[in-house]
Amino acid sequence: MRQPRVVAGEGLPSRVTIYEVGPRDGLQNEGATVPTAVKTEFITRLADAGLSVVEATSFVHPKWVPQLADAAELLDGLVRKPGVRYPVLVPNERGLDRALEAGVDEVAIFGSATETFARRNLNRTIAESFEMFAPVAARALEAGVKVRGYLSMCFGDPWEGDVDIEQVASVGARLLELGCFELSLGDTIGTGTPGHVTKMLDAFARRGIGADRLAVHFHDTYGQALSNTVAALRWGVRVVDASAGGLGGCPYAQSATGNLATEDLVWLLHGLGIDTGIDLDALVATSVWMSQHLGRPSPSRVVQALAGA
Ligand code: HMG
Ligand code: MG
Repeated sequence: MRQPRVVAGEGLPSRVTIYEVGPRDGLQNEGATVPTAVKTEFITRLADAGLSVVEATSFVHPKWVPQLADAAELLDGLVRKPGVRYPVLVPNERGLDRALEAGVDEVAIFGSATETFARRNLNRTIAESFEMFAPVAARALEAGVKVRGYLSMCFGDPWEGDVDIEQVASVGARLLELGCFELSLGDTIGTGTPGHVTKMLDAFARRGIGADRLAVHFHDTYGQALSNTVAALRWGVRVVDASAGGLGGCPYAQSATGNLATEDLVWLLHGLGIDTGIDLDALVATSVWMSQHLGRPSPSRVVQALAGA
């Protein structure tokens, strides 16, 4: 298959970690039930393609996200590849109990920068969501489990509109204070643009939070995810979330479409001479295989371009 010509950019890192969210963010919104065995194969193929982090599933309420109700069964049957991280989402202590029983060593809690989305996604106010997260983070850390933080609606909210940058930085800082090793800034509905990304990161830096503790999570609804990624990389961010084949969305935010496609990101990074450790051909083959299971073509431009190449 074709590979991008490498022409190095300036002011960019030599290596980026891609945090793959396809099996979780990608599949949580699927209408049709994806069999557990297909999910297991998806995760295994992603790890074999060189992804070093594959977010496997969520231990949320099964009625809220029925597509991931098989989380325990999935992890039970998953052969974990040495050196690969398989984090899972947990919102509360019940979710943490289930995740610990399944033997996970990394979890992610997920907060909201806006009150409306906190209510819709977690059935809590922002303040109540922190009451819910605090014991989760404390108990996870005590058990030797790493905790990542997500913050949604950082760049806009479908119900509240513009979201104040200082509000985002303030809620994000509180998530980090709970003991998260990293905070992933979510553009849940994909409306952000590069100047906004830079200003957002600056707001975190003013609070003493640097690039080493931040990741970016761009949904690609408005086609801005790649430009926003370049802005974040130039700022110093080294961890970028993406979803194989561009699958995804959030069941509690209707205007969220798929994440930045991992293949589109890999093409960009490799073209810039940035190492990812990922085999693009194997990744594209995985997304083509997955799209056959889902019964529709991948929205990723790179998958579309390379699938027939
Ligand atoms: P709730 O209804 O307020 O729950 O939901 P509750 O605490 O009142 O508990 C009610 C019952 O549910 C209890 O059972 C609990 O045990 C049970 P009962 O005592 O009545 O028999 N329960 C659970 N069962 C299994 N697993 C659990 C669990 N928790 C409670 N974990 C809750 C509150 C947080 C649970 C619910 O709102 C929820 O599950 N929300 C998750 C929504 C979600 O997964 N959204 C998508 C992920 S976020 C996202 O995609 C954004 C992101 O990608 C970043 C970005 O793009 O911005 C991360
Ligand atoms: Mg997301």
